[in-house]
Amino acid sequence: MRTTVGWRTEGGARALRRAPLERRDLRPDDIAVRVDYCGVCHTDLHAIHARDGAASPPLVPGHEFTGTVTETGRAVTHFSAGDPVAVGNIVDSCGECAMCRAGQENFCHAFPTLTYDGVDRHDGSTTLGGYSREYVLRDRFAYPLPAGLDPAAAAPLLCAGITVWEPLWALGVGPESRVAVAGLGGLGHLAVKMAVALGAETSVISRSPDKADDARRLGARALIVSTDPEQMAAARDRFDVVIDTISAPHDLGPYLQLVAMDGTLSHLGHLGPVTVETLDLLVGRKKLSSAGSGGRPATAAMLDFCAEHGVTADVELLPSAHVNEALDRLQHNDVRYRFVLDLADLD
Ligand SMILES: NC(=O)c1ccc[n+]([C@@H]2O[C@H](COP(=O)([O-])OP(=O)(O)OC[C@H]3O[C@@H](n4cnc5c(N)ncnc54)[C@H](OP(=O)(O)O)[C@@H]3O)[C@@H](O)[C@H]2O)c1
Ligand SMILES: [Zn+2]
Ligand SMILES: [Zn+2]
Repeated sequence: MRTTVGWRTEGGARALRRAPLERRDLRPDDIAVRVDYCGVCHTDLHAIHARDGAASPPLVPGHEFTGTVTETGRAVTHFSAGDPVAVGNIVDSCGECAMCRAGQENFCHAFPTLTYDGVDRHDGSTTLGGYSREYVLRDRFAYPLPAGLDPAAAAPLLCAGITVWEPLWALGVGPESRVAVAGLGGLGHLAVKMAVALGAETSVISRSPDKADDARRLGARALIVSTDPEQMAAARDRFDVVIDTISAPHDLGPYLQLVAMDGTLSHLGHLGPVTVETLDLLVGRKKLSSAGSGGRPATAAMLDFCAEHGVTADVELLPSAHVNEALDRLQHNDVRYRFVLDLADLD
């Protein structure tokens, strides 16, 4: 084993503490990555809050990071020490099922290995995330970071970005589309930038009217205030695609009513059981869908698209020692629009 350092929970405590962490020695197809920048995703917050009781195993969050290859296993041919790379929330999959063969490793029938709190397919250990100085992973699940993408602002592309990219792309969003993005946070602001870059007429649905200027700066034509019944009624049946990134449980009815005939609500923010009034689908033949993360080909395509169109996250970069402050502010919707941790202070 090799030792690094990172930020982890202990027992049921929510505050992360700096701690030494063990990483495996490199397998033939592994690379070691010095983690430079790691985004703070709302999923990290959900995961920390789901820990309860002193018996909870430690958690090291972080599943969207960029860094530099420091070492390669003997079978690795695509990477060399010094290469800039990006890593998302999947670090392995079975490689054999129909989903993996189709390049949709995110839907692997044997379940993909998650970057943290996942189970390593070979040694059964629990994976520890990117809030740490070093990460060791299978080479196939690291992506070359395209030149021209700022490594700190690109880190959130690897979870927030790919999660909204796959549905935009799979639903055929382009210049003829009208798209609305519900919830202007980490995922939401990247969905707006990507939809705009794809040529779609894009709007934001938000409970925060004070985000209207930002929405326009990001390229949206309007911000619809979700708590204003008149504004919501005026937008009825308007959007071919609604990307719902809201992080809390909520009624889907008001958002389905904004979907155009034969259009789709992609509900990917708050995962879990929902209640749907079928009449909200029946009237207008509407579709309800979801999405999460991305396969290897889509992730590589998303990075190329972002490099070509200059799409990265709006980030507030903090030394990693401020991780607890970042999580606290994220919980209070006080982020414009993604915290990214600079891990250099762990040296
Ligand atoms: N499907 C996946 O694979 C996947 C991947 C990554 C993240 N996620 C999930 O996606 C969600 C968003 O993540 P994020 O990192 O973008 O979070 P975030 O930055 O906190 O953004 C969430 C946004 O949702 C809105 N919101 C929050 N609480 C709300 C409430 N009670 N009612 C209505 N709106 C509310 C806010 O937007 P406004 O102020 O504009 O209303 C907020 O900015 C999280 O639940 C996360 O776990 C899913
Ligand atoms: Zn995430
Ligand atoms: Zn598989």
